[in-house]
Parts: sequence; structure tokens; C-alpha cells
Amino acid sequence: MFKGERVNLRPMKREDIELAVRYQADEDITNNYFMGMNLFPTRDMLEKWYGYMSEDQEGFNFAIENKAGLYIGSCNVMMLNWKNRTTYFAVYIGNPDYRSKGYGTEALKLFLNFLFNELGLRKVKLNVFTFNARAVRCYEKCGFKVDGINKKELYRNGEYHDNMAMSITKEEFERGNQ
Ligand SMILES: CC(C)(COP(=O)(O)OP(=O)(O)OC[C@H]1O[C@@H](n2cnc3c(N)ncnc32)[C@H](O)[C@@H]1OP(=O)(O)O)[C@@H](O)C(=O)NCCC(=O)NCCS
Repeated sequence: MFKGERVNLRPMKREDIELAVRYQADEDITNNYFMGMNLFPTRDMLEKWYGYMSEDQEGFNFAIENKAGLYIGSCNVMMLNWKNRTTYFAVYIGNPDYRSKGYGTEALKLFLNFLFNELGLRKVKLNVFTFNARAVRCYEKCGFKVDGINKKELYRNGEYHDNMAMSITKEEFERGNQ
């Protein structure tokens, strides 16, 4: 377990699925988190996902919990590239009572510390919809910089929206934490 001041990161457990189904049905998550359809996954889908990922040695899927042990969100490695030592990731704070209160930033810093100082990665990358100002702000607070804009990448509600690429290197992360 990786311990912060207000949150811990621990491996996902089967018991988390019930709350994950509820969290991922929230519009705030479906609108901002999913690149495909903004439809929520069903319990069956999340159980299948849990099955694959619990057998995947390189899955690195963490539950974010508060200090009382309540599961409030998740962060997951995606498209880990050992040769280039880079990865993408996904993060959400599923419990609405815990959004915009600094929990996401603290969890992400713990996660970045794991990626750089346990997995030995060199660079961490992400894509975020430009309309998701809260997530962009959270990423900036963690030290991510904008690499560029993929114009009109996402089709949502009858319109195309831009998607922003951001990244942080290990050196940038360490400088930000001195
Ligand atoms: C993105 C997310 C993980 C961030 O976690 P969080 O705990 O809410 O973020 P934090 O509180 O650490 O930081 C958010 C910052 O954005 C600010 N913010 C909130 N709403 C905002 C808005 N509409 N516009 C601009 N900034 C906003 C907050 O005030 C805070 O900044 P501050 O500390 O300078 O005041 C979380 O909000 C979430 O799960 N959102 C839905 C799913 C999602 O968007 N996932 C990311 C997909 S790329």
C-alpha cells in the first residue's frame, strides 16, 4: 500500500466492483472519462475486466481509498511500454463528495511516485478532453505539461471536441517535489 496524507493506493479488490459500477454510472465520469460512448459499464463488464486484470501481471490497477478505508476512486496503468519506459494512465475520483478537494492530485502524485520510483518509468503521458478543465488543473498541479492538441478528436453530443496530450518526465516530477 502507498500511503499519503489523506489517501492511500492499494490493489483493486473484487469487493470494489459494486461501488465501481455505481461510480462509473455517474455523468461526471461518463462525460469526462470515456473516449468511446459515454455509456456506463455494467456489473458484468466490470467483473470481466476485473478477471482479466487480476491475471495481468502488468495491470497495475489501484484503488484510491480515504484514510477510513473507503474506496473513492481508481488509477490504472494503460499502454505500458517497457522498451521506451513510458505509460498512459486513467484516473477518476468516483465518489462525488471527494471531487475538487485535492484528493485526485494527492492520489496522482502517489501514483506517479510508484510509476517513476518503483516501475522505473521515464515519462508518463495522458490525453484529456480540453473541456475537462478540472482534470487539466489537477494534472497541471501534478506537474504535467501540454505536448499538443489533437483537434476535433472526440465526437460527443453532436459536436467534435479537442483532446489534449500532456506528459511529465521523471526529472520534472522530482523537481516539482523538492
Ligand atoms: C479529474 C479528477 C481525477 C481530479 O481529481 P479531484 O480530486 O477532483 O482534483 P483536485 O481537487 O485535486 O484538483 C482539481 C482542481 O480543479 C479545480 N476545478 C474544479 N472545477 C473546475 C472547473 N470547472 N474549471 C477549472 N478548474 C476547476 C479545483 O478547484 C482544483 O484546483 P485548485 O486546487 O487549484 O483549487 C476528478 O475530478 C474526476 O474523477 N473527474 C471525473 C473523471 C475525470 O475527468 N477523469 C480524468 C479523465 S482525463
